[in-house]
Amino acid sequence: MHDAFSDGNILFGGDYNPDQWDKETVKRDMELFKEAGVNTLTLPVFSWTRLEPEEGRYEFEWLDELLDLFEENGLHYFLATPTAAVPAWMVRKYPETALVDISGRRKTFGSRTLFCLNSEKYRERAAEMAERLVDRYGQRKGLAGWHVANEYGHYCYCGECRGKFAQWLKERYGTLSELNRRLNTAFWNRTYTGFDEITVPSELNDDNVCNPALKLCYQRFMTDSTIGCFLNEARILKKGTPELSVFTNMSSNLKSLDQNRLLEHMDVAGWDNYPDPDAPMSFSAMEHDIMRGLRDGQSYYVMEQSPNQQNWQPYNKVKRPGQIRELAYQGLAHGADSSMYFQMRQSVSGVEKFHGALIAHNGRTDTKVFKEMKQLGAELKRLSGVFVKGETKARAGILMDWENWWALENNSGPSRDIDYLKELHHYYSAFYRQNLQVDFIKVTSELSGYRVILAPLLYMMTGELGERLETFVRDGGILISTYLTGYADPDDRCIYGAYPGPLRETFGIWVEETDALFEDEKNRICMTGRLSGENGGAAGGTEAIWRKEYSCDFLCDRIHADKAEILAVYGDDFYKGEPCVTMNRLGKGRAIYLASRPEAAFLDALVLSLMADTGMRPLFPSEGEVEITSRVKNGKESIFIICHDPHGGSVDLGGQSYTDMLTGRILQGKTELSHREVLILSKEQTFSEEPR
Ligand code: GLA
Ligand code: ZN
Repeated sequence: MHDAFSDGNILFGGDYNPDQWDKETVKRDMELFKEAGVNTLTLPVFSWTRLEPEEGRYEFEWLDELLDLFEENGLHYFLATPTAAVPAWMVRKYPETALVDISGRRKTFGSRTLFCLNSEKYRERAAEMAERLVDRYGQRKGLAGWHVANEYGHYCYCGECRGKFAQWLKERYGTLSELNRRLNTAFWNRTYTGFDEITVPSELNDDNVCNPALKLCYQRFMTDSTIGCFLNEARILKKGTPELSVFTNMSSNLKSLDQNRLLEHMDVAGWDNYPDPDAPMSFSAMEHDIMRGLRDGQSYYVMEQSPNQQNWQPYNKVKRPGQIRELAYQGLAHGADSSMYFQMRQSVSGVEKFHGALIAHNGRTDTKVFKEMKQLGAELKRLSGVFVKGETKARAGILMDWENWWALENNSGPSRDIDYLKELHHYYSAFYRQNLQVDFIKVTSELSGYRVILAPLLYMMTGELGERLETFVRDGGILISTYLTGYADPDDRCIYGAYPGPLRETFGIWVEETDALFEDEKNRICMTGRLSGENGGAAGGTEAIWRKEYSCDFLCDRIHADKAEILAVYGDDFYKGEPCVTMNRLGKGRAIYLASRPEAAFLDALVLSLMADTGMRPLFPSEGEVEITSRVKNGKESIFIICHDPHGGSVDLGGQSYTDMLTGRILQGKTELSHREVLILSKEQTFSEEPR
């Protein structure tokens, strides 16, 4: 048994599918892996039929041989249970193992993730496979951990799921009358008179504009079903090898499953990072921070990235020179302990034959991708033991909640442009631009360690959360919320008595109505008050940061500030002159309400004034789009500096000198950076004083 992290290695390697080619190729790959510095593989993700060609008959010898070969070559591996793609014989013998889609169509064999999460038969066969794998391989020295299935996230709408959903509702609500009351089924005569009448929210009822509360229940139920599916295998693997990590790789399409809940059952978060070629670097930075938040700040695995193009993008952009390193180090900078890739060798055919790989069809090592991966592999080897499992600390937190995400986007209204992740990114980016580290926190997280908490669009919330947020403010915190906050309870029942519901007193305002702006329509935020707190002026004239006017868009709450100070008013429309940004001083803290979505320049000024008030600051001043983060391990700080700016940038390291661990250079003062340049500076722990 091997804990791949016992020596602080950064895992480097990825998905490998050697059952698609011959032994000679596999042998050659061993040499190429050595050359590239690959230390860890993931397999056999999609090889169920090869392992169990017919029900109950297993063939493991081919895998035994491969694992021997990997171990001879000093490689570690995550063994995947191959349960994401079911064998043809299973669907032939047990058609109920194939899922029913949202249109009510039973899938036929032919693709992956087409299994029903609740199928007893599927679960029986998957459990048996897990049992065989752990019995046979649990004690092997190359085994680094267990990768269960692959990218869960699909839903099923079959009869078996329907029956279990009815049971799930019964457990949640107890009686039919309670269910009818809490889901307000009186609306449009959706009243159930028996649990056997429960329908799953699909296109067969209301063309998918079904009861949003029932849809929310189904989203929760599908998360529970997925957890059940994961545990069906994970429990067996854990029992056989308690010391090894058991997890799954999560899709970067995060919405469909409550990842916080899933992570309660996994030893480590593992995710697949596939940024769109035109996505801003702040978006992947945010997703990494979300991953770190799933287990309350613990490091996580990046299980997949592409070393080159992604075949499933409309236009398959190849990675630009230096981009592999840029993305890999961004992950490590935010808390990842691995840089794993899909895939090691390009498939000879199949839908992903044009997907990038360490070893392309040309099989050569004198390529851009191979050379850059080789450089990365060598660097990561040198960095082993330095920051793996290191922590990142932040003083600003963003509240993110999956149930809120679902409820918000299940709504019909108030705007078709509601996109929770995009909104989170809008606010996150303002912190990113100042290089302030941010934690993504849960509605259940301890809040007291933060100076600033942003809770954008917290549409669904409980009174209990409202009280905790208010205590956070009274104790000296700064809370910032927005339009679409405090509308509904966990059953999606709107709260009587004006929004923002449980936070009305905290913000000292109430919302009368919300105007939705057309896509290209704007209003204006006209500043009338001071946003800075007590220290604002003293901390260096923060007034100079502010313009007189900013634009805003998307939604405009018409609010009444019954207790709060008015900091800005609308500039246009019939609500011109009405409050648009307010601040309520409460106890030792402040609660700021943004009634409309401000342009980025407003948020920049807001963050600068928060910095002046709270002492939050970046590690170093910089120019251009330069990302600066840090991880601390055993009293040593590793500072990551990555230049994402096509025009280059610079960082001012001040009077102290630092060693760049990548090049051994000693650096001091203003340091110029070229596009995609990475520095990792080592610093004896003075961190922190105060986390940033
Ligand atoms: C996902 C899957 C992989 C592969 C890659 C391709 O992340 O987990 O099996 O299909 O996408 O980008
Ligand atoms: Zn089903």
